[in-house]
Amino acid sequence: MCGIVGYLGNQEAFPLLIKGLKRLEYRGYDSAGIAVLSEDGNLKHHRRKGKVDDLLEHMSGSVPTGNLGIGHTRWATHGPPNDINAHPHLSGNGQLALIHNGIIENYNALKETLTNRGHAFYSDTDTEVLVHLIEEIMQKSQGLDLFEATRVALNEVIGAYAIAVIDTSNPNEMVLARKSSPLVIGIGDGEYFIASDATPIIEYTKNVVYLEDEEVARISLADGLKIRTASNHRVTPIVTELEMAIETIEKGGYEHFMLKEIHEQPRSIADCLRGRLRLGHESIRMAGIDDHKEMWTKANRLIIVACGTSWHAGLIAEYMFEDFARVPVEVEYASEFRYRNPVIGEGDILIAISQSGETADTLAAIRMAKEKGAHVFGICNVVGSSISRESHSGAYTHAGPEIGVASTKAFTAQLAVLALVAIRVGRLRQVLDEQRFNRLLVELNGIPEKVEALMSKEPELETIAEEFKGSTNALFLGRGYNFPVALEGALKLKEISYIHAEGYPAAEMKHGPIALIDENMPVFFVATQDAHYDKVVSNIQEVKARGGRIIAIVTAGDKEVANMAEFVIEVHKTDDALVPLLSTIPFQLLSYHMAVKLDRNVDQPRNLAKSVTVE
Ligand code: M6R
Repeated sequence: MCGIVGYLGNQEAFPLLIKGLKRLEYRGYDSAGIAVLSEDGNLKHHRRKGKVDDLLEHMSGSVPTGNLGIGHTRWATHGPPNDINAHPHLSGNGQLALIHNGIIENYNALKETLTNRGHAFYSDTDTEVLVHLIEEIMQKSQGLDLFEATRVALNEVIGAYAIAVIDTSNPNEMVLARKSSPLVIGIGDGEYFIASDATPIIEYTKNVVYLEDEEVARISLADGLKIRTASNHRVTPIVTELEMAIETIEKGGYEHFMLKEIHEQPRSIADCLRGRLRLGHESIRMAGIDDHKEMWTKANRLIIVACGTSWHAGLIAEYMFEDFARVPVEVEYASEFRYRNPVIGEGDILIAISQSGETADTLAAIRMAKEKGAHVFGICNVVGSSISRESHSGAYTHAGPEIGVASTKAFTAQLAVLALVAIRVGRLRQVLDEQRFNRLLVELNGIPEKVEALMSKEPELETIAEEFKGSTNALFLGRGYNFPVALEGALKLKEISYIHAEGYPAAEMKHGPIALIDENMPVFFVATQDAHYDKVVSNIQEVKARGGRIIAIVTAGDKEVANMAEFVIEVHKTDDALVPLLSTIPFQLLSYHMAVKLDRNVDQPRNLAKSVTVE
């Protein structure tokens, strides 16, 4: 949600801000804005509804000069996307400019108080209230500088924020703060790069400081980086080195990031398994488990929390853990879990799954579980993200940056990590015997190659997309391990093509959704040859009898389903538990081509944002 960039140094800030905003546009893209301050204190401020390109068009070639600047790309929370609600917001006297990602929950109360004291507000945003509050504190205290006034102001704020503020009276300084929304400071040679995540920073420096919750930072050309907590304790900045490579955040010749990320999956799954799956040694090495063997062996229950696609990965993991480790599992939407009063006790392990590692609900769920004494195991893609840092232990998915809003390679990497964990724990708990354990390792090791083979099916999926692009509804059905794949297929299609799609366990169809089936309804089945094959075949018959159009993902060589379906896509045979790593790929390619044919914005679908840092 919302992308923040900032620059302070000896280069012109404006081009760096624009480039950074374009890199961060996947976080939110309904309006954009910048503020650039020149050495003589002249502030140039531009905002526009729409994308960064709309902002540039609006500026029609004017290039603000100055070595200090902030920029923002917005995902609207308070007030519709329009020019007035776009960031940066200015203080009443125009001296301060502020950008914000997050939500100020008590903004109404603050706004009322400030309005009573004579402040006038122009936007609907919570952010404008914050910049007025800082201004008021500076004016009233007569002596508090921007850094101190921001720190004091934040003590009155309830909610989540990552902010950057600049002051026209000091063109050599920027103040930053974070609580529950990410903020990274890149340290260059006499210059600083600020961003919501490392993607805009990586081409300039590998040295970064991740701001922690409730920390306020001052970057100054004279004094460097200083950090204090909101309660005014000094913090020594810890500089870490980024491992990201610049190519991973570029399209590399593909038309869209989503397509590039789909095609990266043979590599991303292999990267995820590398060093962990040790075929020659017949073992799995994962520090997050090896360091807590007794805990995993004795665990009474696993609770998996996640949102969206990551939640689908959790559902598949439920089947894996039950099969391989015979441990009870609950899979919860983080947003529901955090507001229940769940019974969590000694011996429970909470597994939090998140691509971004910043999803507000998942973060809140792990904080609650920690308070109640559970051990938290985080599975994240973004290195250094909040969830990875707040978990007791965990495993990175190593899929590399995922820029397309629709999650693809992050999902399969999550499945790969979850398979490793479930198999490892299954062995620790002596549920899997050596033979089955080794067979699973061999199958898992063969997955990248089988995923690679699936990429050759793209032309067939493009044909299917052409055939069904006019549909207004679609059903996705699967059973067992492939039931969550059906949910994921439906989510992928609806989020990028805007075609209404529902995923169901195939047997549930006759309890309601069957009423929707007619000759216009495409029904996408996962009908691979697994434990549920015969049952799924019966479900296909039921759809066929009612005139539905059947498209099926089948195991290579299948004849029975091929005779019933209008289109089939073959995937290689593998262990039932690993089939989702294959069966999900055709649905990704189908959704992608459907969206392209419908001329949708594939990488930035309407109303969505990559990283959901508000609840
Ligand atoms: O970063 P996270 O994995 O925590 O994000 C969770 C969901 O917001 C995310 O999976 C969302 O559903 C995707 N747009 C799905 O493609």
